[in-house]
Amino acid sequence: MISPNERPIGVFDSGVGGLTVVKALRERLPAESLLYLGDTARLPYGTKSAATVSAYAAEAAGALVRQGIKALVVADNTSSAHAIDHLRATFPGLPVIGVVEPGCAAASHASARGRIVVIATESTVQAGTYPRTILHLRPGATVVSKACPLFVALAEEGLVEGTLAEMIARHYLDPLFSGPAERHGDCLLLGCTHFPLLAPLFARLLGPEVAIVDSATTTAHAVEDLLENRRLAAPAGHAGTLRTLATDDPERFARVARAFVPWEMTADMVERVDLG
Ligand code: DGL
Repeated sequence: MISPNERPIGVFDSGVGGLTVVKALRERLPAESLLYLGDTARLPYGTKSAATVSAYAAEAAGALVRQGIKALVVADNTSSAHAIDHLRATFPGLPVIGVVEPGCAAASHASARGRIVVIATESTVQAGTYPRTILHLRPGATVVSKACPLFVALAEEGLVEGTLAEMIARHYLDPLFSGPAERHGDCLLLGCTHFPLLAPLFARLLGPEVAIVDSATTTAHAVEDLLENRRLAAPAGHAGTLRTLATDDPERFARVARAFVPWEMTADMVERVDLG
């Protein structure tokens, strides 16, 4: 029998993108065991309605809860934007943390003049959760949200630098960061699991005046605080493990995942599961 604090943290996403959050969690909290679920059979979530995303998120979370997790991290921004309250109500007693709140807190802090640009999927932008949360934390800020769906495809194709990636980044970002300097965004909040892969390109195009906030690393900090506050942290010296589940083909999952993580990723490390 493992002790309650040795139980894994459940992490779910629509696919492989949430591995950016897993990577940040492993770096920050090496003693914690992680159970990751990528709902690749129903990917993408970012084009779907609030009702569909909430239903999918509850099913994915339910599958992790049945495995005996001690806390749930919603790595998927679209689910975090639409379904965090629904998940907290569905699983009372389970600590649930999404990526929106930590990302917004970090952006509110990092932005010098309170001009924050959030880039995300179409469905996340429609939810309006990012601007609402930022304005709650930093009243008076100006928040512009922009759907950038092509960045998801670029990250999955490994096209994170070069002519094509740069053209698409300019297409989305130039209108938000050009014109009179006082009206530019001064902070870019990456509101999608895939976007941290493009962060070096964004930094190069936008220059040092624009703070880039990645919700994966900020979420790892928030998880650390949460575990400490709830006295749920794994014992010091515990060797955290990673188990990876996917709802579709492990072969493709592993291949695409290699762009997202520094560790070796092969199909035999991914277990196929059905959520039904
Ligand atoms: N994981 C999604 C997000 O962070 C991006 C991919 C998708 O659309 O499912 O919003």
